Amino acid sequence: MKFVRYIMKNAALASVPKHVDHFSKFSPSPLSMKQFLDFGSINACEKTSFVFLRQELPVRLSNIMKEINLLPSKLLTTPSVQTVQSWYIQSLMEILEFLDKNPDDKVLGEFVDSLVTIRNRHNHVVPTMAQGIIEYKEAFPQDQVTNQNIQYFLDRFYMSRISIRMLINQHTLVFDGTLNPVHPNTIGSIDPHCEVGDVVQDAFRSAKMLCDQYYLRSPDLILQEMCRTKKKNLPISIVYVPSHLYHMLFELFKNAMRATIETHDHSSTLPPVEVMVALGDEDLSIKMSDRGGGVPFRRMDKLFSYMYSTAPAPRIGERTRPPLAGFGYGLPISRLYAQYFQGDLQLFSMEGHGTDAVIYLKALSTDSVERLPVYNKTALKNYKVSLEVDDWCIPSREPLDLSVHKVPK
Ligand SMILES: Nc1ncnc2c1ncn2[C@@H]1O[C@H](COP(=O)(O)OP(=O)(O)OP(=O)(O)O)[C@@H](O)[C@H]1O
Ligand SMILES: [Mg+2]
Repeated sequence: MKFVRYIMKNAALASVPKHVDHFSKFSPSPLSMKQFLDFGSINACEKTSFVFLRQELPVRLSNIMKEINLLPSKLLTTPSVQTVQSWYIQSLMEILEFLDKNPDDKVLGEFVDSLVTIRNRHNHVVPTMAQGIIEYKEAFPQDQVTNQNIQYFLDRFYMSRISIRMLINQHTLVFDGTLNPVHPNTIGSIDPHCEVGDVVQDAFRSAKMLCDQYYLRSPDLILQEMCRTKKKNLPISIVYVPSHLYHMLFELFKNAMRATIETHDHSSTLPPVEVMVALGDEDLSIKMSDRGGGVPFRRMDKLFSYMYSTAPAPRIGERTRPPLAGFGYGLPISRLYAQYFQGDLQLFSMEGHGTDAVIYLKALSTDSVERLPVYNKTALKNYKVSLEVDDWCIPSREPLDLSVHKVPK
């Protein structure tokens, strides 16, 4: 019996590349916030969602699996990246089992169970992939093109992961038949009336707690809301995923607090972190301003690089107090959350003063549409860029010897 199972498993594994080729030929179908809400509304149909997901999840998985295969072979063969790749293969195979099944109650139940298993399996993808990249960077010399490719890949890979988790969360939360006791009005993970100020306060409290533990003090918060709409006296709210917004704000608060404290090391008072929430016709913007000394202009480009950090690196899996900074993943991942629904995250800094971080979100749920990577010729071309010679002069580091230009008398 064991032998038969072994043979079957190997046969299934052998067919994986064929399935990946097939499903990667389809482009992922981006959903709008409104479509997510309709999927989860009173008329929600579990069978429709099932039929959509059993096609869409393999498409999203296969599109990104194609890109994993384009990584430099020395990175692809690190144990960590191999582990991540095996999780993707396993999850793809599990969903494919539902392709020709009739969506009766039993199958629908099994599908939810499979999605939960897949979500749990992928819980540690981010640190595991990060570990693979650390191993690779430590073992092999770096070049600019490889670094550029890795940055390009990670942005797309983590964005794909955010989107896959969003689909899985919506289906499992909407169709498990229970209400969220804390937020009964949420539809899956989406809050149709997400009060931005509340999420700012929540994220601030958590970052403050961490900051107090680590530095024994923390800056205060000043929160202001501006609204150009008719509902002037109501708190600003949008249709959004509160956990995504919380994630971005928490990361920004940690950065702002660390900078504030380290810059005002010898001072008995700390300047507050100021947050302004503004709602317009198109955008909902959240600006967080600190007086933490800012970042030199020369370093601004690096801030969104994975693993760029000025904090001492904590060890992965470390069981001690969670530090306020260290992996250099806070900003790049937060920007992906903002971009996922067509928003953005930008940093403006004045060295010697402080930093403004601005989160831009779409004010209208019809404009909030998933931003998804697609594996196509353009993507393929982007992995094949070569290092080109700069078309701007590079100034010499040595002082110029002007004596050679002397006119002989
Ligand atoms: N508000 C800020 N003021 C000054 N420097 C900042 C600010 N925000 C970010 N930085 C700089 O950008 C770097 C990268 O930030 P990022 O949040 O991505 O990583 P990190 O904070 O070092 O680690 P973590 O992954 O734990 O967030 C920081 O190490 C810091 O040098
Ligand atoms: Mg950070």
